[in-house]
Amino acid sequence: ARRLIVDTDTAGDDTIALLLAVCSDHAVLEGVTVVAGNVEFEHEVENAKYTLALADAEDVPVYEGARSPLIKDHETAEEVHGTGGLGGDLFPETGIPSADEHAVEYIVRTARENPGEITLACIGPLTNVAVALQHEPNLGELLDSVWVMGGARNCLGNVTPAAEFNFWVDPDAATRVLSEIDVTLVDWGVCLEHATLRTEEFEPIEAARSESPYADFFLETARPACEHTRETQGIDGTTQSDSLTIAGLLDPSIITETNTYPVAVDEREGMTRGYSLVDENGVTDLPANTRVVESVDGERFRELILDLLVHGDP
Ligand code: BDR
Ligand code: CA
Repeated sequence: ARRLIVDTDTAGDDTIALLLAVCSDHAVLEGVTVVAGNVEFEHEVENAKYTLALADAEDVPVYEGARSPLIKDHETAEEVHGTGGLGGDLFPETGIPSADEHAVEYIVRTARENPGEITLACIGPLTNVAVALQHEPNLGELLDSVWVMGGARNCLGNVTPAAEFNFWVDPDAATRVLSEIDVTLVDWGVCLEHATLRTEEFEPIEAARSESPYADFFLETARPACEHTRETQGIDGTTQSDSLTIAGLLDPSIITETNTYPVAVDEREGMTRGYSLVDENGVTDLPANTRVVESVDGERFRELILDLLVHGDP
């Protein structure tokens, strides 16, 4: 099983991704590191703890990381995930303490102590990883692999026409991480196409509501995201981007095609802030070091999510 650290701006789809990581036999979730993103940082930390507690995994430590992007102001997305990030109302606090160590120190220390052993899944803005790189320039080589959900490659973004949320929130961090670490990139386009669960597909989840705490949790928390997707994309459903990223590393058969390209991110303020430029024809001098996920087995992904939400066993 993969030894896994998940770096997350825990709200909405991040919680389902965490459940997937905790419940899968293909990974051991060793730590969760929290980064500024979707909602206020304190809420994200609580959401991570609540999710782990829901899965009886309170023993997985939660490390608090960067409370704001490297340079930009912290912009959040309550309109997608609800005020606290778990739908409408705030959930009760768990009382679980955070780990003493800072998320960045934890990532660097764990990578150094276990060279080639740890997979890092980044499902929020890349601030923690960028800061970790400042402390340990060889971070990429010390890790087994790094998976990133971010960017909107040759498609409309979800925050602006040019950009996807994670890269838009901290484009300076994204630039640094993509240039210095060979990552596998799961972008918004592939998620929108293959990881969007339409409300008409919720039926088995609705039916499992009274038996499965995950089904109930999902239906409760995904509501604002469904409304937002309906208003902005004309689709009635929710895109489980972060879960697709975790699913891809847990079950490589879900990934049906990848290509390795140079990818750069526009960190300038302005209309194209956070834009991810994928140099498919190799016309730039940038190194081709990003493994871009081109297509996935959406059916298999759906099965996995339903197995998780309905039976608690992906
Ligand atoms: C990404 O941004 C966040 O809103 C989601 O959690 C996901 O990581 C999608 O753009
Ligand atoms: Ca996220």
